[in-house]
Amino acid sequence: MTQYPSLDRVVVLIPTYNERDNLPRIVERVRGAVPQVDICVLDDNSPDGTGDVADELAAADGQVHVIHRTGKEGLGAAYLHGFRWALEQGYDAVVEMDADGSHRPEDLHKLLDAAQDADVVIGSRWVPGGEIVNWPTHRKVLSVGGNLYTKLLLGMDVSDATAGYRVYRADALRALDLGSVESAGYCFQVDLTRRAVHAGLTVVEVPITFVEREVGDSKMDGGIVRESLQRITVWGVEHRAEQLRERLGGRGRWHRL
Ligand code: GDD
Ligand code: MN
Repeated sequence: MTQYPSLDRVVVLIPTYNERDNLPRIVERVRGAVPQVDICVLDDNSPDGTGDVADELAAADGQVHVIHRTGKEGLGAAYLHGFRWALEQGYDAVVEMDADGSHRPEDLHKLLDAAQDADVVIGSRWVPGGEIVNWPTHRKVLSVGGNLYTKLLLGMDVSDATAGYRVYRADALRALDLGSVESAGYCFQVDLTRRAVHAGLTVVEVPITFVEREVGDSKMDGGIVRESLQRITVWGVEHRAEQLRERLGGRGRWHRL
């Protein structure tokens, strides 16, 4: 078993777009649940003034940081920015967490415990013990369907590849060739999962309870779904073509046919 270095410095990255009412609450909950970890808010110049709220929180607490981005470029772009920053700052691991309370900070210690022996930890809704509270049926259908499609096409042994509550070790991020990531929206999560699996990293899933937000609106839209469908299809075709090449080119059964 690989001996992983200890996780001394961890930062929770929180992407925000119009989360002014949710942000103070989630920051307080993270600081209460895991006081040793830092926080960095990744705000896309939210029209509702979330960036100003983040500045106030940062001014009051040295463990809270803010990255102000120029405009709404998607969850993936915001996280890539946050990853670069976290690696420059020398953190040992980063956590991805939504601002709206769906990812309970009180569960983070479970994810960090699992990260003692893993490269990537996914807080999963679709493993035994995982749960979803208050999601409308159409969101459940989209999540089940998206994960099924992903599994069929990419053949990964991951039950919740679209999940957004995660821990990445810094070394794992360095192994993922982040400069070539093009996913802008929520398919960013699937993209990084496939990169991690492809790189031979240890990816483990820990059951979480996902609680639908009570305040503000989801930013999920048709464009995000379309991008996911297109990209996952392309990755799936590439993956299957590669499998076929290996079989035809190798000394396996196919070669003798
Ligand atoms: N900076 C930035 N830029 N943040 C964004 C953007 C963006 O373009 N789009 C969304 N966010 C932030 C939101 O403000 C929130 O903190 C978090 O990303 C998640 O956005 P939601 O809109 O609440 O996502 P959801 O609940 O519909 O999505 C769920 O499904 C996604 C796909 O599976 C969650 O499980 C996500 O974690 C998951 O990635
Ligand atoms: Mn949400």
